[in-house]
Amino acid sequence: MKTGEVIREFFAKDGRKVVLRTLKWEDLDDLLDFINSLVEEGANIIRTEKVSREEEIEWLSRVFSRQEKGELFCLAAEVDGRLVANSEIMRGTGYSNHVGFIGIAIKKGFRGVGIGTEMMKTLEEQAKKVGLKVLALSVFANNQHAINLYKKVGFVETGRIPKRFFKNGAYIDEIMMTKTLE
Ligand SMILES: CC(C)(COP(=O)(O)OP(=O)(O)OC[C@H]1O[C@@H](n2cnc3c(N)ncnc32)[C@H](O)[C@@H]1OP(=O)(O)O)[C@@H](O)C(=O)NCCC(=O)NCCS
Repeated sequence: MKTGEVIREFFAKDGRKVVLRTLKWEDLDDLLDFINSLVEEGANIIRTEKVSREEEIEWLSRVFSRQEKGELFCLAAEVDGRLVANSEIMRGTGYSNHVGFIGIAIKKGFRGVGIGTEMMKTLEEQAKKVGLKVLALSVFANNQHAINLYKKVGFVETGRIPKRFFKNGAYIDEIMMTKTLE
């Protein structure tokens, strides 16, 4: 798939037009702003340290090289010409080659209007196209918004690691969720 290729367009619940597409080099500064805004707000993602532009350049180069090898698929959402969300499916290796591991985040100010739902559905379509049989993801047990989204698109809880995270003085379980594809 080419960089910057448009995969789907739709209108969010607030009327804004959303373009779902693959990443391109021109996204670099938006991606940097995006990841650092998630770190700054303390979003329930694994990363806790801000990223430098150099690190982001390295990350994006790796993304393109892994995409070419079919190990990774990234799907971004654009509103008014700016990147507002990113998501990925990472293909497992070896005996897990049929499993896709999903990650997704939407920028503050663009949540709750259906972008996550459309992105998850599009990721699933892509997963089927490349022959994946199982989708898996992990989520902080207190991230009810994300859990609601994943349940809505057919994921079920299939595992839990107690006290997997320690955040703001409290332990939080990690929930594993999966969806088996037809
Ligand atoms: C979690 C996240 C990806 C959800 O994406 P989104 O675009 O906001 O989700 P949607 O608008 O498509 O809503 C999906 C469902 O979530 C639920 N939901 C929506 N807003 C919600 C809110 N404020 N609180 C709780 N649940 C909510 C609803 O069930 C909704 O389905 P419905 O609209 O049919 O009722 C997004 O909020 C996000 O990026 N959060 C920060 C980063 C993060 O937590 N990433 C996930 C890490 S595992």
